[in-house]
Amino acid sequence: MSSRITTFFGGSSGLWRVEKQHTVIGAPIEPVARVAVVPGGASPRECVWGLRGVTSNTRYASGAEVRTLQERQPALDRPEATRAVLIPIRKNAGWWALAQDQRHEIVEARSRHISKGTSYLPAIARKLHHCRDLGEDQPFDFLTWFEFAPADEGAFDELLHFLRSSEEWRFVDREVELRLVRD
Ligand code: HEM
Repeated sequence: MSSRITTFFGGSSGLWRVEKQHTVIGAPIEPVARVAVVPGGASPRECVWGLRGVTSNTRYASGAEVRTLQERQPALDRPEATRAVLIPIRKNAGWWALAQDQRHEIVEARSRHISKGTSYLPAIARKLHHCRDLGEDQPFDFLTWFEFAPADEGAFDELLHFLRSSEEWRFVDREVELRLVRD
């Protein structure tokens, strides 16, 4: 199985304890106590839900933005990064009906997603998983994952507020947020 695949299992086991789970918009997912992040495909296990995504090529970041990200982005699993956030997101049919250049314009020129996000590096580590091409029945389009030290939670909240107020987020019709602690 491709190592680009990751499955997030919600249930009673896993490295990450759920501190808070809330629905931002759209249908909720079942509340769980812990989340296990399993790379490289998923073997069956006891869980309440499993969300699967795959890392992919970039769609919107320019060459210069990719270079900046490579320079500044920290790795996952830093010992000090004991906080994580899993945010599954779905965008509506209106978004997917747009052409690539129109979506790009909304993401960066009109919402400043990449430039603003980059200013929070290296405090926040991130990984973007795509679900849309895994099948028609996927509950979300993206599984977004972030890790940071407890002292950087306020900065993360500020970034979330910025993004959720953006034009890009008007297309988000399902979003759930799970705040996690590694203990
Ligand atoms: C930590 C700072 C962040 C940085 C540096 C960042 C950077 C990026 C970049 C470069 C992309 C485009 C990738 C591509 O070219 O395909 C992207 C996409 C995305 N990011 Fe962020 N981001 C950050 C925070 C966030 C947060 C907090 C969220 C969720 C609340 C988020 C949700 C997404 C989603 C859903 C996409 C996919 C958009 C799409 O393809 O329609 N990002 N991000």
